[in-house]
Amino acid sequence: MTRKPIFAANWKMNKGASETEDFAKAILPKVQHHTFPCDIVIAPPFTSIPKAAELLGNVSSVALAAQNCSQFDSGAYTGEVSPMMLKEFFVHYVILGHSERRAIYGESDEFINAKVLKALEVNLRPIFCIGETLEEREAGKLEEVLRRQVTVGLKDVSEEGLGDVVIAYEPVWAIGTGVTATAEQAQEAHAFVRSLIAEQFGGEAAAKIRIQYGGSVKPGNARELMACPDIDGALIGGAALEPASFLEIIENGTA
Ligand code: PGA
Repeated sequence: MTRKPIFAANWKMNKGASETEDFAKAILPKVQHHTFPCDIVIAPPFTSIPKAAELLGNVSSVALAAQNCSQFDSGAYTGEVSPMMLKEFFVHYVILGHSERRAIYGESDEFINAKVLKALEVNLRPIFCIGETLEEREAGKLEEVLRRQVTVGLKDVSEEGLGDVVIAYEPVWAIGTGVTATAEQAQEAHAFVRSLIAEQFGGEAAAKIRIQYGGSVKPGNARELMACPDIDGALIGGAALEPASFLEIIENGTA
């Protein structure tokens, strides 16, 4: 089974519209007329999405993602943005269940599951994030945590819906810390996540689903991580803020 790798830039709460314009203009010459052996996704903050859509919306090698969405269609939900509203701006993916949303905003597995289901209803593709804290890993709970996150987070997703899901395995201790999981640690966790998908959805679905690695991915470690059989791309934070380093990760990771 060959899976097309997917490299996504998670800008978090960085880059307003004018910095988004700078970034888009810097990558345009590289991405405009090229075909890459991977999908490239950029996830700006909500308010920068229109600018990103204006400049990159018709560049076929780049897709846009949001960093969150509501589990509802519309209504009295102050501060929320629905999946349908994102679709109006050429947004194709949405990051859901990022560890920062889980830890800082208290998002539970059930809450994330409701968002995953709502996004899939309108064909917005979830980049569904999972991963253990250092405490959980050291307490020997890695598998237990991943099992809970996958089982609950993807509950009631249809087999067809799963085809639109990308999983991002991001060990919390590796996010923004400069500490990367070793290729061996990452591969082991990815293989385990794939086995969970096989249990829940069957072997064929497990062989097809793309599982990105995230957590301090840089140009220097992309090649080794991406060479692992169960790693299908990366979700990149800090190193995706600079156009050159984001492109270098993609180049190294697909070499
Ligand atoms: P990082 O962030 O690359 O800065 O570690 C990754 C993420 O949070 O998705």
